[in-house]
Amino acid sequence: MAYTVTKLKDYSPTTLDTAAKELLRALDQEATAIRNEPDWKAFRDRWMARKNGVLTQVNDLWLKTAPKEAKRNVGQRVNELKKAAEQTIEAALQQIEAKAVLSRLIGDRLDVTLPGISRPIGAEHPVIKASNDMVGVFRNLGFSVQEGPEIETDYYNFESLNFPPNHPARDTQDTLFIANQQSKPLREQLLLRTHTSPVQIRTMEKIKPPIRIVIPGKVYRNDPPDASHSPMFHQIEGLAVDTNITFGDLKGTLDHAMKAFFGSSVKTSFRPSFFPFTEPSAELLVSCFVCGGSGRRGSDPCRPCKQTGWIEILGCGMVDPNVFEFVKHNGYEPSKVSGFAFGMGADRIALLKYGVDDLQLFFQNDVRFLSQFA
Ligand code: PHE
Repeated sequence: MAYTVTKLKDYSPTTLDTAAKELLRALDQEATAIRNEPDWKAFRDRWMARKNGVLTQVNDLWLKTAPKEAKRNVGQRVNELKKAAEQTIEAALQQIEAKAVLSRLIGDRLDVTLPGISRPIGAEHPVIKASNDMVGVFRNLGFSVQEGPEIETDYYNFESLNFPPNHPARDTQDTLFIANQQSKPLREQLLLRTHTSPVQIRTMEKIKPPIRIVIPGKVYRNDPPDASHSPMFHQIEGLAVDTNITFGDLKGTLDHAMKAFFGSSVKTSFRPSFFPFTEPSAELLVSCFVCGGSGRRGSDPCRPCKQTGWIEILGCGMVDPNVFEFVKHNGYEPSKVSGFAFGMGADRIALLKYGVDDLQLFFQNDVRFLSQFA
């Protein structure tokens, strides 16, 4: 039952005491039931409202009706009760405010023992990893890294590398041409570079001999994708130019690089080849590190070397003097300098080194495959 103010049966101090005690008990009881701000507002209004609030009723029913001689005493009591009500109301407000702060703090509480949100960090793609490893081998030999544009001119991709216009060697490159270039002179026409060799010329135009550079990068050819082809792939080019560079330097450098990259037990072999920009030209083979050169794995034929015991790795040769002609203004006088160059497929050496049998796996970006190399 909610507390209501009733008339006093008399104005004696005992009656007043009892009535005051009853009122204060009700006040305390109602104050402890307050849970939130709307509760508190209702509580405040019930007790303090000028019109019909509990205290107004006390005033009307107890004080106003008191006979003259009791007025002083009753008035004092009523004032005490007012003060008590004001204090209780104020304290109740502070309590719900403190409760709100506390529940906000609890809501914000941080459990430092919870596992964190882990953000997977990226890793080198296996092709980039193989490429970086190979580049590292040459950096250790004193080669520095150069790069060049993937959209190249006919001049740098072909002409200055001794592919004259209409030379049949151009046909072997399956070039992807940029559209609407016919109005330009041939040497300025744009294409996607088919090899990293144009960076040989670009670097020799910038840096005087002697130079030793490695050039990693993307190249493009009009090849339909299959287990060993992709219209975009990666190469690592190398070029060393100085006075008296010989084919022996080429052989020694590449033999070291192959051992450093594939393992010290591999053997190298050179076989004659042709490139317009090197003379003589060669293909480098390494002994198959899967079958150890025997061509067989137990009773099965060895697949990576197609049972030959040898795996083709790269093209190389001594820089053709005709190439130096294009940069002789920068100190590359064909009669004074000599050099060697090589170019290999980074995707191919990654396939071989990691024992992957399908090049397409490198470009499908399936994290289940790629994470094996992280
Ligand atoms: N550029 C050649 C190719 O892509 C490779 C090569 C580079 C050969 C340098 C000889 C010297 O096939």
